[in-house]
Amino acid sequence: MHQPKAAEIKGCIFDMDGVIVDTAHYHYLSWKEITDDWGFDFTPKANEILKGVSRTESLRLILELAGLEKSEEEKTALCVEKNDWYRQSISNMTADDALPGILPFIEELKAAGLKVALGSASKNARHLLTLMGLSHHFDGMVDGNDLTRSKPDPQVFLLAAEAMDLLPSECIVIEDAAKGIAAAQAAGMRTVGIGEVEYLGAADLVLSSTSLLSLPFLKNRLSADQLPAG
Ligand code: BG6
Ligand code: MG
Repeated sequence: MHQPKAAEIKGCIFDMDGVIVDTAHYHYLSWKEITDDWGFDFTPKANEILKGVSRTESLRLILELAGLEKSEEEKTALCVEKNDWYRQSISNMTADDALPGILPFIEELKAAGLKVALGSASKNARHLLTLMGLSHHFDGMVDGNDLTRSKPDPQVFLLAAEAMDLLPSECIVIEDAAKGIAAAQAAGMRTVGIGEVEYLGAADLVLSSTSLLSLPFLKNRLSADQLPAG
């Protein structure tokens, strides 16, 4: 069957946590500081559903898992406490903490004339990029401070495409969260999942590590005949 030709990829949108840097792990550990106090066993597997989810929505999901209820005041205090743990854990991060292959890949994209944007649910993402000395690489930065809707809503990626002055169909999204892949697909973008097929099987392509990212490889694997008609 004839497939429509996919638009040329002109921009790449990077999720932050778990893609540019291994902070998905620190978000988990920060929540675990709190859940350990409750005597609740918050496992890495349970954490998968929190990836890409805002801080307040994460707390709502954790309380649901733990079977607990908290007042609005308590929830606000818990979000502050979690963020304090998290900010402390990222406070000494530098460009050396970027995940393997990420910086060479960004340089490869820029050298090929592609635009690069951040598309993160985290309110700390822009701060962290600046702290790591990486913000100058980005043509657009969208983080949790700009959003009114959480992934899997496409808002974050539509804003990132707009910031690069590109159409959604010209963008590719690199994500480690199933909800992030769903958000990118809802935005009409191509997707690369970083992690396990078990969680990211809906992506156009799943890579086990950021070290496998390369522009020729992506262009080849995400060509028109690899994409669903639509
Ligand atoms: C996302 C993470 O990038 O940011 C989530 O995947 C996290 O785990 C969310 O909850 C919100 O982050 P922050 O820094 O605003 O608490
Ligand atoms: Mg992520």
